[in-house]
Amino acid sequence: MSLERAAELVATAQHGLALTGAGVSAESGIPTFRGEGGLWTKYDPVKVSSIESFLADPTSYWSVSKDRGRVALAARPNPGHMALAAMEAAGYLVAIVTQNTDGLHQDAGSKRVIELHGSGRMVRCLECGRLEARSEVQTRLEVEMPPRCLTCGSAFLKPTVILFGEPMPAAAMHDALELAGQADVMLVVGSSLVVHPAAEVPLVAVRAGARMIVINAEPTPFDRFAEVVIHGRSGEVLPQIVALIGA
Ligand code: APR
Ligand code: ZN
Repeated sequence: MSLERAAELVATAQHGLALTGAGVSAESGIPTFRGEGGLWTKYDPVKVSSIESFLADPTSYWSVSKDRGRVALAARPNPGHMALAAMEAAGYLVAIVTQNTDGLHQDAGSKRVIELHGSGRMVRCLECGRLEARSEVQTRLEVEMPPRCLTCGSAFLKPTVILFGEPMPAAAMHDALELAGQADVMLVVGSSLVVHPAAEVPLVAVRAGARMIVINAEPTPFDRFAEVVIHGRSGEVLPQIVALIGA
C-alpha cells in the first residue's frame, strides 16, 4: 500500500528532490553513524570528528578515519543508489542532496549530486592547500600516522569533508535550499534527520508545498510531516518504486 502510494507520488514529480543519508550506503557496507552499529555508538563524534579535535590531534581523527576510509573506498553503489540514478534519468528527480561523502551516488550515475558534507574522496593540506586523492593518502596510512603533506610536510591533511564545528559549504547549501523551495516531491532516504542544517532541506520543501516521502529503516522525527512513510531498507524499497513507475 505505502509502496504504491510512494510510486504514485514519485510518478507525479516534475521537480522531485531527494535528500539521502548514511542509511542509503549501509547496504554498500559503510556503517551508519546512528542506529544499530552506528559509528557514534562507538566513538564520541566531537572527540573524533570535530575541526577542534582534528586540529588538536590529527592522529585521533585519522585513527578512526583510516578504517572508515578503507571501507568507503572499496564500497560500490547498491540497488538503492542505482534506483535514485534511474529516477533522475527518467526526469522524476532534478537532484540528490546528500549528507554522504562516499561518492556512491556519482558512481551509480546520478548527475546532479549536491554534497552538503563535502567529499571523502579528496584530502587537502590545511597549510599549503595541496589537494590529493584520498586513495593515495590511504596507502600512506599503513606506514605514516598522521599522514603528511607531500609538498610541505604538514601533519594537517584533512579530507574535504565537513567536520562538526565547520561551516557548511555555502554554494551547496544555497543550491539545496533553492531546489527544496521549488520541489513538488521530497524523497528522504536513509537519514536519522537529527543533523541540521541538512535536515532543514526537507522542511523547506514541505513548507513550500512539497509532498514528502520518508524511507528509513527506523522512525524519524519527520515521519509526522510525510505523506508516505516506509520503514524498510532503501536497497529494497527504492528499486521496487522504480519498478512500479517503470523508470
Ligand atoms: N535503508 C534505509 N535506512 C537505513 C538503512 C537501510 N539499509 N540502514 C540504516 N538506515 C537508517 C538508520 O536507521 C538511521 O536512521 O539510516 C539512518 C542513518 O542515520 P545516521 O547514521 O544518523 O546518518 P545521517 O542521517 O546521514 O547523519 C547525518 O551526521 O555524523 C554526521 O556528518 C555525519 O552526514 C552525517 C550526519
Ligand atoms: Zn602542505
